[in-house]
Amino acid sequence: MTQIIDGKRTAEKIKQQIAREVQEMVEHGGKRPHLAAILVGKDGASQTYVGHKEKACGQVGFESTILKLEENITEEYLLEQIARINRDKDIDGLIVQLPLPRHINEIKVIEAIDPAKDVDGFHPVSVGKMMLGLPGFLPATPFGIMSLLEEYEIDTRGKHCVILGRSNIVGRPMANLLSQKSDRADCTVTVCHSRTLHVEDYTRRADIIIAAIGIPEYLKGDMVKEGAVVIDVGITRVPDSTKTGGYRLVGDVEYATVAPKCSYITPVPGGVGPMTIVSLLRNTLSAAKKEYSK
Ligand code: GUN
Repeated sequence: MTQIIDGKRTAEKIKQQIAREVQEMVEHGGKRPHLAAILVGKDGASQTYVGHKEKACGQVGFESTILKLEENITEEYLLEQIARINRDKDIDGLIVQLPLPRHINEIKVIEAIDPAKDVDGFHPVSVGKMMLGLPGFLPATPFGIMSLLEEYEIDTRGKHCVILGRSNIVGRPMANLLSQKSDRADCTVTVCHSRTLHVEDYTRRADIIIAAIGIPEYLKGDMVKEGAVVIDVGITRVPDSTKTGGYRLVGDVEYATVAPKCSYITPVPGGVGPMTIVSLLRNTLSAAKKEYSK
């Protein structure tokens, strides 16, 4: 029997916990956690994501500030804005929505964020802490996936996990987290990527598959063994005139052929996506409580 991992429901539950905690903080004279997001340019998907983050902040009682900047701003101007937000004592967390226009150096921008406010977990200090297994901000999508595995009590110990994709945002941090020495990890991890030969040789032997390559319906039923756990991180917009927005969201997994073989699977939408935003909220709450910078 295949069990569907309900990311939407899990995310709602966590949001309610956060909202309660914020209410208590405010009742005890504390200030509301405050997230700032910088959005450069007019990329449609980025605008949607930032809008979702702003809405989620409101739902749990956080303050949020969106700084919208023109596509043609200079790197120097963006770095000045980050420095200003770093100094702003009222703002707890800062994210710069990616991707950035090509003339702006992404690494330089990420390094400019105060590690105490790095709620995306992209700063080298956060990445280093994660690598060493120290408490710190985890990137939102891997944090969300780890939370889902925990919520559904999925046994990861000693299991062979195959990760499809080696991005800094998902694949590589997932490989790191799942290989750590911990009751909630302890996996043997294989990372497959665009240069891997015969990917199916790996996926067919996997107990857990994390699909994060951004190719719609890449993982097919014949690439998966019976009883596998499949986590689908993909969200590609595919044109669809029957939908109100003109597109539908498709994951990296061909759900119809893969799901019947799985013990657990995340749907798209409603799987990993909602957990990503809630993990950002969790990080912002931790930043407001100075959990990692005392
Ligand atoms: N672009 C795609 N995913 C993310 C994310 O998690 N954070 C930021 N800042 N930009 C993104």
